This record gives sequence, structure tokens and C-alpha cells, in this order.
Amino acid sequence: MTNFKLGILGGGQLGKMLALAAGNWDLPIWSMDTSSSFPAAPFSTKFIEGDFKNYDDVYNFGKQVDILTIEIEHVNTDALLQLEKEGVKVHPSPTKLNIIKDKGLQKQFYVEQNLPTSEFTLYAGAEEMRAAVKEGTLKLPFVQKSRGGGYDGKGVAVIKNEQDLAEKLLPVPSMVEPLVDIDKELAVVVARNENGEVRAFPTVEMEFNQVANLVEYLICPANISQKIEEQALEIAMKTIAAYDICGLLAVELFLTKSGEILINEVAPRPHNSGHHTIDSCYTSQFQQHLRAVMNWPLGETKMKTPSVMVNLLGADGYTGEAYYEGLSEVMALSGVNLHLYGKTLTKPYRKMGHATILGEDTVQAKIVAKEVQKRLIIKTV
Ligand SMILES: Nc1ncnc2c1ncn2[C@@H]1O[C@H](COP(=O)(O)OP(=O)(O)OP(=O)(O)O)[C@@H](O)[C@H]1O
Ligand SMILES: [Mg+2]
Repeated sequence: MTNFKLGILGGGQLGKMLALAAGNWDLPIWSMDTSSSFPAAPFSTKFIEGDFKNYDDVYNFGKQVDILTIEIEHVNTDALLQLEKEGVKVHPSPTKLNIIKDKGLQKQFYVEQNLPTSEFTLYAGAEEMRAAVKEGTLKLPFVQKSRGGGYDGKGVAVIKNEQDLAEKLLPVPSMVEPLVDIDKELAVVVARNENGEVRAFPTVEMEFNQVANLVEYLICPANISQKIEEQALEIAMKTIAAYDICGLLAVELFLTKSGEILINEVAPRPHNSGHHTIDSCYTSQFQQHLRAVMNWPLGETKMKTPSVMVNLLGADGYTGEAYYEGLSEVMALSGVNLHLYGKTLTKPYRKMGHATILGEDTVQAKIVAKEVQKRLIIKTV
């Protein structure tokens, strides 16, 4: 593989963990993001400074690599389409990426493909939504999602009453859906290669931090029946087949109180809901993504041991150069696998790292996960 180059757009923690996985195979990784102070830079064979939203930067980067993939979906797909025309292998397919990047097109895709998702309506902006409520065509409460650009709950607004309607609506083109009566949030990370091989990791359960509106704990195995587990895996496999893409697809699901499984959204790349796989499964999601985009045989996805993954977030009230208080105490705890991303700056609720706690069962692992959260405080120097 001496002259081979796998390009990755984005140089955050997902890129870092991809590069670390590639290291085991001596697979050369070229990464691109705006600053060489980002997490992936020290672990990439070569790191190029450039903006993945910029056509020329993406095009020029892509011309230098053999296969191009992503660790974030908000990239310039026009450049990717051109690169594909010129013979560069791009995974996931930029045409499908254009659908996934837009929450409105994504929902339309599920309807066309007969995949389960909640009802929805598209609106051009806040005024259209207010008018629809007045006319009675849009009922409170509802969930507003920005069609583009959202992440970690940014770009999602829950509109419960008239006051929210006046104050909380985001002034952007939106996909609007009813508030789903959620029993559990589940996710399945599934992979597909060019040979059409498909493999899914076991279903995980996500528990949210209500204040930060992002995932706090990831529990594997999920506390669900065998039947729900099978249905979730089947939906994920059908979804990746429908998209016909290579690489990973993380499928976020809602299990409703009436026992229905709905697709919330997908991400065509490694995902927060697969972080535990590094420590707790036969193959990690990062290794699996590389196998999939390289068209190598996919790895065994079985779980080695139950686990709880906890996202390590920047403490509220601190913005600046990160300092990790309580590190050595946490490292002394049994079964704790710490992953610090190496972000220079901390901000309230910013994802700074994660810890995967292995244990006999998820109840015991969660107790240790809470201990980690209590002791490891990410402050400023
Ligand atoms: N229709 C809904 N009903 C109830 N809760 C919802 C609904 N849609 C979203 N949520 C809640 O908001 C969270 C974030 O929504 P979503 O996943 O669409 O946004 P996001 O910003 O792309 O997320 P992330 O980047 O964190 O995956 C969901 O995981 C869920 O907890
Ligand atoms: Mg989500």
C-alpha cells in the first residue's frame, strides 16, 4: 500500500479514530480540515489544511488520493460529484450524501422506499410555520428541524406552546414532525462494501442528557426484547441497501411507547453510537468503515462484553484551554477505557472524549460510568 492514499474529509475525533484504526494495517491516511491543531492531524500520514465546505479545497484534495471518504456529512458534494466523474472513488456516494445532508429529502426518501419514519411536513421558514398553526394545518406540540447543517441537537427545536412558537422557532427551511412518544432511542451501525456484503453491530440504546440535548450514555446490549432487536437490525440493513452506499451507516431509531420502530435519521460515517465497539466488539466501527470503503471483507460484529459508553463533555461554565481534573482517579477504575480526543479548547457540553466501561452487565458498568462522570471534570487551565 506504499503509494495508496485514503483521503478523509474532516479532521475531528472521528477522523482521529479512523486514522488510529488504519495504523494497525499501515494504511496511509490523508486528512483535510481547517486547522492542523485538530484531533486527526497527529495521527494522519498527511494532514492538509483546507475547508471541506469549499469546492476547490475538496477538489484539490480529492485529486491527490485514491479513495475518498468522510467523517462529517456537511462537505462540498459538488466537488465530490466532479471527482467521481474524474475517476476518484468516493464513499459514501455524493448523490446519496445530498439526500442525507437534507433532513427533508431524507424523510422523503424513507417514504419512497417504504421505510418506517414519522409523518412530516416541509416549511420554508418560521413565518410559514406560524401561519400553518393559525390555519390549523400544523398542530402543537411539534419538533422543528433545520433541513441542513444540524448536529448534536443544534438545529432541533421542540415547540410545545404559543410562547415557544413566538420565541423558539428557528428562521430556516425546516422539516417539521410530531413529537414522538419515545420509549427508547436506539441505534444500529451497519456496514456495506462494494461486493454487497452487509453487517450490522448489535443494537444500542442511547440515553440523552436533557440539558445538553445530546447522548450521555450508550448501552450495549440494549435492554429490549429479541423481537425488537431483530426488527431494528432488519430496518438498518434495509436502509443501507436502499441507499446503496459503501461504508458505515448509523441508523438512529425511535422505539415508540406502542412498540413501533421509526427511523429518526442516519449518518453515513462512523458515529457516536458506535464508539463502544472499539473496546467491546470483535471489530471496531472505525476498522469496519475502512474495510467497507476499501472493499475488504467486513469484520465480525459480535459483542465481546457488555459495555456502557459515556460521552465526556466540557463542564458548564468553562470555555478555554482544556484541563482534565481527576484523570488518574478515573484511570484507576476497573474496566474503564478512556478516549480523549485532544481538542485544545473546551466549551460547555462540547464532546471532549468518551469512556467505554466494560463489565459483567450494563447495570454494573453504568455505575462505574457515573463514577467516571463525577470524577473527571473538564475545566480550563
Ligand atoms: N420527533 C421527535 N419527537 C421527540 N423527540 C425528538 C424528535 N426528533 C428528535 N427528537 C429528540 O432530539 C434529538 C436530536 O434530534 P436529531 O437526531 O434529529 O438531531 P441532530 O442534531 O441531527 O442529532 P445528533 O447530531 O445529536 O444525532 C433526538 O435524538 C431525540 O432525542
Ligand atoms: Mg440524531
